[in-house]
This record gives sequence, structure tokens and C-alpha cells, in this order.
Amino acid sequence: MLVLLASIFVVHIATCIMLFVSTIANVWVVSDDIHGSVGLWKNCTIGGCDNVLSYASEDALKAVQAFMILSIIFSVISLVVFVFQLFTMEKGNRFFLSGATMLVCWLCIMVGVSIYTHHYAGGYGTSYFKSHHGYSFILTWICFCFSFIIGVLYLVLRKK
Ligand SMILES: *[C@@H]1O[C@H](CO)[C@@H](O)[C@H](O)[C@H]1NC(C)=O
Repeated sequence: MLVLLASIFVVHIATCIMLFVSTIANVWVVSDDIHGSVGLWKNCTIGGCDNVLSYASEDALKAVQAFMILSIIFSVISLVVFVFQLFTMEKGNRFFLSGATMLVCWLCIMVGVSIYTHHYAGGYGTSYFKSHHGYSFILTWICFCFSFIIGVLYLVLRKK
């Protein structure tokens, strides 16, 4: 039981960190032919990450940014609530509040990454001849799976 809780805790922290990294790193789509990548905020080339994203003002991108930020916030809130419940909740109860918060985080990731996949993941708007998914994009899908598993486990587990 303690081992299980400890491992969920570790995976939860890892998920928060991965969400943060993938949101701020501009490596969602990477070029195969030139040295460059784009993310949610910037367009990077060998000279640095200061080119404007051609679709920076599109609502779809703003929605992805907003949902990714919300998912970070909810995953951190869920972690704080879990630690709080670990110390204050009566034995035998379920970690319902942290589970519900984590599932809200999961929903935010799902909406954000779905919009991104639909609109931008194929390299739209980039001048790349060929491109592939960057690590941010992959990390976000991993977080999508992890946040669901963590959320469900919190709902199922009882405090011993
Ligand atoms: C990124 O910058 C390059 C060079 O300025 C430009 O050709 C390309 O279209 C830009 N890509 C996006 C997605 O903004």
C-alpha cells in the first residue's frame, strides 16, 4: 500500500514536470531538413527561438496554450490536495478530491493536445519540407496516459 502510494506520488511529480517542460519547450514539431522546431510559443531555428510563429494569433493555438497551462495548474493542485489528504484524511476514505482534480487535468490535456494534433502536428504553417513530432508532443501524450491512470488510482485507493 505504502509502496503503491509512493510510486503514484513519484509518477505524479514526474507528470507535473513533464507537462511543464513540454509546455514551455518549443519542440512540438521538428524539421527533418533544416535545423528548426516549433512549439506553442516560438519558432526556433539555429539562430535561437525568436522567430514569430506564423499562426501565433490563431484561436486554436491560444486554446492549446490555455489548456496546457490549465493542465499544469490542475496537476499541481491535485498533488497538493493528495499530500494534504495523506496527512489529514480519515483512514478508509478514498482520495476522491485529488482523483477528481487529476481527471480535470487529464481532460485539459486531452482537449489541448487534440486541438494541436488536429491543427498543427502535421507541420502546418512551417516552411519545413518534412517534419516529425518533437519530444514535447510525445511527452504530452505520455502525460495524457499518466494523468488518467493516476486520477483513477486516486479514486480507487483507500487510505490505510
Ligand atoms: C518560422 O520561421 C521561418 C523563418 O523566419 C519561417 O519561414 C517559417 O514559416 C516560420 N514557421 C512558423 C510555423 O511560424
